[in-house]
Amino acid sequence: MPQNTRHLPATSQGYTEAAQILREGGLVAFPTETVYGLGGDARNDMAVAGIFEAKGRPRFNPLIVHVDSVETAQRYVEWSDAADRLAHTFWPGPLTLVLPLREDAGLSPLVTADLRTLAIRLPAHPVAQDLLRAFAGPVAAPSANPSGRISPTTAAHVAAGLEGKIAAIVDGGACEVGLESTILGLADGPVLLRPGGLPIEEIEAALGAPVAQRAAHGALTAPGQMASHYAPGAYVRLDADKAGEGEVLLGFGAVECDLNLSASGDLREAAANLFHHLHALDALGAKGIAVSPIPGHGLGVAINDRLRRAAAPRG
Ligand code: TXA
Ligand code: MG
Repeated sequence: MPQNTRHLPATSQGYTEAAQILREGGLVAFPTETVYGLGGDARNDMAVAGIFEAKGRPRFNPLIVHVDSVETAQRYVEWSDAADRLAHTFWPGPLTLVLPLREDAGLSPLVTADLRTLAIRLPAHPVAQDLLRAFAGPVAAPSANPSGRISPTTAAHVAAGLEGKIAAIVDGGACEVGLESTILGLADGPVLLRPGGLPIEEIEAALGAPVAQRAAHGALTAPGQMASHYAPGAYVRLDADKAGEGEVLLGFGAVECDLNLSASGDLREAAANLFHHLHALDALGAKGIAVSPIPGHGLGVAINDRLRRAAAPRG
């Protein structure tokens, strides 16, 4: 839905307004030291679904959660000695750590694409920090560009791609690093998942150990895209008009079903409900989950991508 994008200054008044928008589930683009991020409340399913919608992402890639301190990070991930050393050396700064998600984290499953790990970072940009403190909550933020376009390093870049699609842009000038954060996996041994603004040599020096490199661009395809990672216990049958013997029906639109992704046929609501409903139906112990047809446009592309993975034959 087109909306009037507010351009907010990097002042306490601007942060207060931006934080209020985030609290109401709206999306705010803001500068970090790497690139501008498109932020939404990481606990709010509709806000996170809105991020994917605004970017036009064709699949639910997991997002980075931005926090205002190490203590806040520890509320969402299982902390470790290596995390502690790296955070104390490089945070705030262009390093994202991927750690086991805490069971009680309370984040939207869309943020992690339903993985058991969470990417988290403490940005160095004073505007990002002031906004995070004003909001006092976890902010999920991918780069603030439409999917497939280059990452924005000024408010004008953000406006060129997302004007009319998001609630606000906080203008904090040009980003210093201009390159996304380095992503380091720590869930099982240090692995470089994406090279970025912090050189890997500096990480190795801080750890006193070599860091494994994931094969070229592997971070962008694994682990979230492995079918097995997404598969419920029940089999999944797509494009169903009703449940068969031993099946439950995950509906969309005006259908009689066990759980409905969106009775009104709203794709954003459907995205927000997707992982919750799949877990809930799987927990019923049915043999199969039949799923109504989902339109293949807008967020329907990412929803169908996720459902096809869940339906893929198990290895
Ligand atoms: O500098 C940055 O990192 C910027 C600013 C805004 O913070 N953010 C950014 O986000 O580049 P994005 O969404 O464009 O890239 C995030 C990357 C994705 O490629 C995703 O696959 C990876 O992080 N990622 C997120 N969570 C992950 C996880 N649990 N395991 C592995 N990779 C993950
Ligand atoms: Mg990006």
